[in-house]
Amino acid sequence: MEIKVFDSVQKVGQAAAMIFAAQLMKNPRSVLGLATGSTPIPTYQQLIALYQEGLVDFSQAQSYNLDEYCGLSHEHVCSYYYFMHEQLFDHINIAKDAVHVPSGMAQDFDAECKGYDAAIAKAGGVDLQLLGIGRNGHIAFNEPDACFTHGTHVVSLTKSTIQANRRFFDSEDQVPTRAITMGVGSIMAARQILLLATGEDKAEAIRDTVKGDITPQVQASILRTHPNVVVLLDREAASLL
Ligand code: PGA
Repeated sequence: MEIKVFDSVQKVGQAAAMIFAAQLMKNPRSVLGLATGSTPIPTYQQLIALYQEGLVDFSQAQSYNLDEYCGLSHEHVCSYYYFMHEQLFDHINIAKDAVHVPSGMAQDFDAECKGYDAAIAKAGGVDLQLLGIGRNGHIAFNEPDACFTHGTHVVSLTKSTIQANRRFFDSEDQVPTRAITMGVGSIMAARQILLLATGEDKAEAIRDTVKGDITPQVQASILRTHPNVVVLLDREAASLL
C-alpha cells in the first residue's frame, strides 16, 4: 500500500486525475471503476479539465460504478447514475453505452447483481478502481460486517451511512435504506486501486484501515492485502497515522 499525503483536497484530486490520465494514456481501452460521494468530485473536475485541454481521451474507455441506491431511478437527482452524469460523463467523451451503474430499480436484484459481475468479467475486469471510504471504514456500500462479501449484492445501510448521506437529500427519511453494491471481492479483483480520503472525519477510518487489524468490521482494511493500492490523503485524513 503506497500512501501519499498532500496539503489540500485539490491536490489529492489532481494527483488522482494524473493516475487516471496515465492509465488511459497507457491503455485507451481501460476499464475504469468509478465512485460517487463528495471525495471524488475534485478528481472528476481535474479529469474534465485534462479532457478539455486534449490531454486525456475517454472515447475507447468503459466505466463501471461501485454502487447505487435501491429504489432511485436514473432521473432521480440523488441517484448515483444522475450524479455520475452531472459530475463527469456529460463533460467528457466517454460513449453513452460504455458507462455502467448498477440499477437501483431492478425487478430482480439477484439477476442484476449476477449480470453486473458478469459484465465486468466480460469487459476483462477493472484496470483502475477509484474508492472513497466511509466514516465507518466502508468501501462502496460494504458496511462493517462479520464477513467480507465477494460479488455484487444488496445491502442494508447502517444508521451512520444514512446520516452521512442525508446531506444530499431533503430529509433523513428520504435516504434509501438499501443499496446495490459491488462486493469486496469484485473490488479486490481490480488490477490497481486508488483510495482517496480527505477531511478530519475520515482520519479514524484511515488509521484503522492502515494500522488496525484486517477485519470485516473495517472493510477497507482488506485493501492491505492487494498488491497494487495507492492511497491519496490530505493532511486532515492522515492526521492519525
Ligand atoms: P464521501 O463518501 O466521499 O461523500 O465522504 C465516501 C463513502 O461513503 O464511501
